[in-house]
Amino acid sequence: MIVTIDGVAASGKSSVAARVARELGVPFVSSGLLYRGVARLCLREHVNPDDEDALLDLVRRCPLDLRPREQGNEIWCGHQDLTGELHTHEVDETVSHVAKHPRLRDWVNEQLRHVQGSFVVEGRDMGTAVFPQANAKFYLTASPRVRAQRRVQERDEDIGEVEAALRLRDEKDAAQSAPARDAVLIDTSNLSLDDVVANVLRAVRA
Ligand code: C5P
Repeated sequence: MIVTIDGVAASGKSSVAARVARELGVPFVSSGLLYRGVARLCLREHVNPDDEDALLDLVRRCPLDLRPREQGNEIWCGHQDLTGELHTHEVDETVSHVAKHPRLRDWVNEQLRHVQGSFVVEGRDMGTAVFPQANAKFYLTASPRVRAQRRVQERDEDIGEVEAALRLRDEKDAAQSAPARDAVLIDTSNLSLDDVVANVLRAVRA
């Protein structure tokens, strides 16, 4: 069984996907972390994120390994765990540049399609481009203000700046972030995490 949870930045996808996966007793897979991993490598190796050939060369030289763990996904590059370095301001700014390249997206999707068995996967295009055959699909939204409020609870940043950055990332991600026709749309602006998880589980089990 595959459950896809797509949605805009900071809409609660990861938290919802992690909780739903735990309730269903299956792994949770975060596709965004692979894009973030490439962005992190780019910054570290001084590769231009707008140069697709250079990015493909980078992931060939430094292959990334996505490890779904119950407490959260890990991204490793060889013997190095990059997980703790993926949610910085610099990575946020770089990641949409990385994610716009079709061949780099094919590379990420290939890694995701290697995941075996049942799982819950979250991202932007999981229910459309990557797992169109999924058993249940969801698309989460929330107002930019609410998303910014959630983000500043995780990171010590200015809410106005966070909201502006989220709106910018929405624009850059728009091309690859659309709900599947058969996805259940959930506006999480006025819902608690428990409510969203309950809605998703109800629909999955229906
Ligand atoms: O979900 P998260 O905010 O961690 O994703 C980081 C970035 O990775 C997004 O802003 C987007 O540019 C890219 N992404 C994507 N397709 C996905 C998942 C993430 O383009 N399936």
